Amino acid sequence: MTLFDTHAHYTDNAFGRDRTELLGQLLPAAGVAAAVTAGVDVESSRASIALAEEYHYIYAAAGIHPEDCAGAGEAELAEIRTLCRHPKVIAVGEIGLDYYWAENPPREFQQEIFRQQLALAREEGLPAIVHDREAHGDSLAIVKEFPEVTGVFHCFSGSPEMAEELVRRGWYLGFDGPITYKNAKRAPEVAAVTPLERIVIETDAPYLSPVPNRGKRNDSRNLPYIVEKLAEWKGVTPEEMAQITFENALRLFPKARDAG
Ligand code: NI
Repeated sequence: MTLFDTHAHYTDNAFGRDRTELLGQLLPAAGVAAAVTAGVDVESSRASIALAEEYHYIYAAAGIHPEDCAGAGEAELAEIRTLCRHPKVIAVGEIGLDYYWAENPPREFQQEIFRQQLALAREEGLPAIVHDREAHGDSLAIVKEFPEVTGVFHCFSGSPEMAEELVRRGWYLGFDGPITYKNAKRAPEVAAVTPLERIVIETDAPYLSPVPNRGKRNDSRNLPYIVEKLAEWKGVTPEEMAQITFENALRLFPKARDAG
């Protein structure tokens, strides 16, 4: 199985002890042929680029996450723009809205930073990696203000109707470990209405480990559990699902193809 993990955070401290072994040996040996490590602020975006420079199959996304956007302003956004011009930065992300945590920056401020980064994606001709937690209505409304920008809704948790609307608008949907949980009721409904060619597979490592590794640190070697679940729902073999999602990821991130 050849796998493309479209969303991970390998700069996270959770990988502080064994990052070299993991990225240098274990992931390639497990068939992980490409992985995107996404920034959540300027510093982690820079660190993501450093990993992408070190490992040929690692790509970076640069962006400011809604949980980390407090204090972000013109200087930070200008820096993200500069980082986006690096040959291995294939998307603007992780950006979006997070209304789940009460201590997050105010919603209006998150929306402003989200809009500015969608404008940046439009100007730089890059796809966006969108984080939408408990903010479906506003996330959809804001991406609709930028019809020229598409990308992926990471760990999509909206309704089947929202999935259909995003697909119509050219977006891809990311499926993560939670689709393997027993209480995942919406995920099969969302998968049913999402065309095969718009599905990508993600870990969000170190978070969101799928069953049977739920609760442990996640990494891209767990992708087959997500592939198997999606293959079952879509009526294809796991090998076909891995192949299709790999090709989808290359279409979603054109710079990943160019960067080789
Ligand atoms: Ni993430």
